[in-house]
Parts: sequence; C-alpha cells; structure tokens
Amino acid sequence: MPKLNIVILAAGKGTRMHSSKPKVLHPIAGKPILRHMLATARALQPSKIIVIYGFGGETVPETIGESDIVWVKQEQQLGTGHAMQQALPHLEDDARTLILVGDVPLLEVSSCVALFKEPAPLALLTVNMPNPAGYGRIVRVQNAVQAIVEHKDANEAQRTIKEINTGIMAADNRWLSQWLQRLDNNNAQQEYYLTDIVALAVADGQYVSAVQCNDEWQVAGVNSKQDLATLERVYQHRQAARLLAQGVTLADPARLDVRGELTVGRDVEIDIGCIFEGKVSLADNVRIGPYCVIRNASIGAGTALAAYTHIDDASLAEECRIGPFARLRPGTQLADHAHVGNFVELKNAQVDSGSKINHLSYVGDATVGKKVNIGAGTITCNYDGVNKWRTVIEDNVFIGSDTQLIAPVTVKAGATLAAGTTLTQDAPADKLTMSRGRQFTLDNWQRPEKVKK
Ligand code: UD1
Ligand code: MG
Repeated sequence: MPKLNIVILAAGKGTRMHSSKPKVLHPIAGKPILRHMLATARALQPSKIIVIYGFGGETVPETIGESDIVWVKQEQQLGTGHAMQQALPHLEDDARTLILVGDVPLLEVSSCVALFKEPAPLALLTVNMPNPAGYGRIVRVQNAVQAIVEHKDANEAQRTIKEINTGIMAADNRWLSQWLQRLDNNNAQQEYYLTDIVALAVADGQYVSAVQCNDEWQVAGVNSKQDLATLERVYQHRQAARLLAQGVTLADPARLDVRGELTVGRDVEIDIGCIFEGKVSLADNVRIGPYCVIRNASIGAGTALAAYTHIDDASLAEECRIGPFARLRPGTQLADHAHVGNFVELKNAQVDSGSKINHLSYVGDATVGKKVNIGAGTITCNYDGVNKWRTVIEDNVFIGSDTQLIAPVTVKAGATLAAGTTLTQDAPADKLTMSRGRQFTLDNWQRPEKVKK
C-alpha cells in the first residue's frame, strides 16, 4: 500500500448558511463538521493531513487547533482546483492523496478505504441521485468514465445523468500534480475546477475508476441550516440504531441525542429526551429517566436516574438512586447505594456508600462518609467570599434539616446535628450538637391586627 496524504477542502464560505461562522465550524452532534472529517481522516492513518482554509481566516485553525495538521490558506476562493493547487507543495511524491470536501460530516472510513485501495491512478466516489440538479455529472462512454461536467456547464442530455460526483476522490500524487498544473478556468463559473482532472487523466490514457457509494447520507454536504438539521437527525438516528443493536431499550429512538461517545452495558434503559455529551459510560442495568443531561460521566451497574437529572463530570458507582431534578457537578463521586434526591446540588463532593442526601441541599467541596443522612435544606457554606473550604462528614452522621456547615469544619463519626444548626466548629463524635437557642413560648403574645388607614 502506498503512503497516504489527505487533503480536506474547507476554504469555502457556505453562503447559504447565512452565518458569519465558516461552514466547516458549524456543529453536528456538538462537534464542528471539520472535526468529524478529521476524525475520519485520522482513522486512515495518513502520513499527512492538509486542510485548505480561507473564508473566516484564522478562526478555522484556531478553533480546531490540532497541531499536527498542515494548514494551508487559500487567500482567494477561485475554485476546488485552485484549492488543491495550494496543497501541491505539501504532497509527497510517493504517496496517494485522498481529497475530501470539508462539508460531508457523515462520511465513513470504509468509503475512504475503498477509494484509496482502488487500483487506478484516479478514483472517484460517486452516487446515484434521483434529483442530481446542482452537482457535477459523471460522463461515461461505453461505461468508461470520461469526464465530470458541472451542472452549470452541462447540456440537456448531460443533465439527465443521475450519477454525480461526491467531490471525494483519490489520486496518485505523481499524476495528480501534473493534472493540477494543467487546469484552467474556461467554464461557466470561471473557476478552476478540480473535476477537470478527470478529462486530463483520460487524455493521458489513464483509467479513471468510479466507486459507487450506496449510502447517500455519507456523501451529503451541508450547504444550509436545513441540511445541517437534516444531517443532525440522520446522525442521531444512526447513534440510536447502534444502541438498539447493542441491546439498549430506547423509549423513542427519535428523541435521543448523543453528542460524544456513549458506551453501554447490558439491559440499559433510556427514556425520552436525554442528551449525552462527551464520554459517558452506562454499566449494566442502568436506567435513565426522561430529560436527563449527562456529560462526561461513568454510571455504575443498576444505578437509576429519575427525570431531569443533570450530571457533569461525575462518577457514580452501583445501585445509586438519583433525582428527579438533581444536579451533580464536576468532581462528584458517589459510592454504591448513595441516594441523591430532588433539588440537590453536589459539587466536588465524594459521598461514600449508603449515604442519603434526599431533599433540597447544596453539598460542595465535601467528603461524606458511609451511611450518612443529610436532612432537607442542608448547605455546606464552602465559600467565604475569597476561598473555598472543605467540609468533612464522617461515617454514620445524622444531619438535621436546615443545617449550615461553615467550612472548614468536620462532623465526627456518629454525631447528630439538630435541625437548624449553624455549625462553625467541629462536632464531636456520637453526640448531639445544636447551635440554636432553646424553644420557649410567650403566653401573652397576640397576633398583630391589620391597621385601617
Ligand atoms: C463540487 C464539485 C461537484 C460536486 C460537488 C459535490 C467542483 C468543480 N465541483 O461542486 O462536481 O458534485 O462539489 O458537493 O469541484 N472549496 C475551497 N476553495 C474553493 C472552492 C471550494 O476550499 O475555492 C471547498 C469548499 O469549502 C467545499 C468544497 O471545496 O468544501 C466544494 O466546494 P463547493 O463550492 O461546495 O463545490 P460545488 O459547487 O458544490
Ligand atoms: Mg457544494
């Protein structure tokens, strides 16, 4: 196998996006289109990846920021052939180049491999389209590819051709460099067309192969927000299909969004409206209720999240019960059988096994031991306005409702804090500590009456 160079053409403006953001930076599944293309490119293990950028200037390389890429600026967008000419000085003589357009986020590695392996100095990825308007047509004579004619340059007969150029091709560099140098712009759009290399190859007596792709979505380009939305749904549909094939139960495959890598064990159930971002792993028998948002998290076997739970950068062990309406923020770690209930916010809190924080609490920068019960409305006051401090709650502590723990502070093992305590010093082990005054009753007190004005 020859060496592989990959060139991604991404200098175009994308006029129909009606956006000041370059087209290739618009997201599919939360990730810029160009990043999807780069992930596919990398999977092919090329010796070089060259990206031609232009519209939007440095925002493209700055946003993508992958340092091993060769970024080449096309100052003026004079056509796809002109774009490829910019790559010429970077191509390796003994390599074959895979040319990708920058706006086909669903392109798969297998299609690229097929093109790369095709034993022809020039191979094109083509697709049959029921409505080919706007695309370059594959012109064949006695089945042999002769040329690509752009829609605007095509005659009536050529416009009936349904086989179109996807814009993706592979060529041996020693030929490619010659053909690119011979391009001109004598055509309807006065652009340097990359597609003209097909006729040049044929003129040189070289065989041009067309590899047909039978999946139109793989080669569908993003030209408008409508296309972006359509491809987003196709992408998500494919994620859902993959999960179903692995045995996940999805309440509705059409109401699921995976914007990253979701890995799953056996018998996982996911209700409607859930969003998974970054790296998320769900172990066996995990149940996710409706409308949960889960980012960068690992969730242990048998754990159940009730509706509207938000998790960001947290790890949950086995058999935990979370939500509804719980928020687990970065640094949260829950051991087995932890319970976190409604309107509870945890941040950088490590909660040991069997502990419960079931209602309306904020627990931040805290270490919570085993079998602790934290009553409703408990707050760790972790911030003094300048610094953050930790709260330590040891094993078997019972914290009454509406308690404030003024950090840094430690509640020793087995301690009980009475409801309403404002704890400013460590609470001793196995004792009841309270900070409020004793209860008293005023015998002669009467409710105030409304004063007439
Ligand atoms: C191109 C093909 C057409 C094919 C279609 C598939 C040519 C002449 N035509 O047409 O046969 O059916 O794609 O979608 O190649 N780009 C640059 N610099 C430029 C111009 C374009 O980098 O000066 C990039 C764009 O960012 C884009 C890609 O090249 O990623 C294709 O350009 P586009 O303008 O979309 O070409 P089409 O007219 O659609
Ligand atoms: Mg296009």
